[in-house]
Amino acid sequence: VREIAIIGTGMMAQALGWGWSQAGHSVRIGSRTPDAVSGENLGYEPSMIADPSAALLGSEVAVLAMPFASVAPFVREHRSILRDIVVIDISNPFDSLPNNERAGAEYTADALGTTKNVVAAFKDNFAATINAAPTQDGSRGDVKIAADDEAAKEVVASLARDLKHRVLDCGPLHNARLIDPMVALMLQLDRTYAHFTRRTGWLFTGLDEVGPQVIAMEEGEADCEQHQ
Ligand SMILES: NC(=O)c1ccc[n+]([C@@H]2O[C@H](COP(=O)([O-])OP(=O)(O)OC[C@H]3O[C@@H](n4cnc5c(N)ncnc54)[C@H](OP(=O)(O)O)[C@@H]3O)[C@@H](O)[C@H]2O)c1
Repeated sequence: VREIAIIGTGMMAQALGWGWSQAGHSVRIGSRTPDAVSGENLGYEPSMIADPSAALLGSEVAVLAMPFASVAPFVREHRSILRDIVVIDISNPFDSLPNNERAGAEYTADALGTTKNVVAAFKDNFAATINAAPTQDGSRGDVKIAADDEAAKEVVASLARDLKHRVLDCGPLHNARLIDPMVALMLQLDRTYAHFTRRTGWLFTGLDEVGPQVIAMEEGEADCEQHQ
């Protein structure tokens, strides 16, 4: 069981928090307006709803579930706490970094002053797919993870597996440069082929030999049906 602070109360905060609550983790919600947030709005009962500082204090993992433009200022403001815990950057820079020369997560690491505990993850997993029922091919889409620190990466990989996703280790943090544009392409493909329902996702094929890392979808997981 991990103490996870999710900062933000939007679509990703709802999806990740619901999934991790179901998996038995303690999910704390940090919001700029905690009094306006309730378990009813979120779709699950977090262990705490508080301002971001209070939610972060004592957490082992922080998920920055806010717009990319807010991430670096937020990290600078909360650097003293964030430097000691695993920071999951899920934000997508899109037009803020149109050339993809550096990854959004590298700017997050700059703001923190270290790459050590920053993990880029869930960037190309639409909120509606986080807790989705298994698809016909037995997958909910891979969760790609890029980070420099192996221990931090493993914490996030295990949290992704708790959500019943297969995890792809994409290498060091700077490889998030390769993931950022995949999100833009995913949106384009979703619009073209899926009426922009945002229930699609990426699946890397040919990994049968990976065996243990492939999460077998068991029958009777209907209660994991995506809840939004
Ligand atoms: N939606 C997706 O399918 C998806 C998939 C992968 C990644 N992402 C990324 O995940 C992040 C969140 O996306 P979302 O769709 O969940 O967004 P959203 O529904 O718009 O929610 C964003 C949340 O961020 C918080 N927030 C806004 N401005 C903030 C600030 N200046 N400082 C601190 N918190 C702030 C707000 O929470 P409070 O008002 O309660 O503070 C708000 O609920 C984005 O960076 C997005 O690119 C989204």
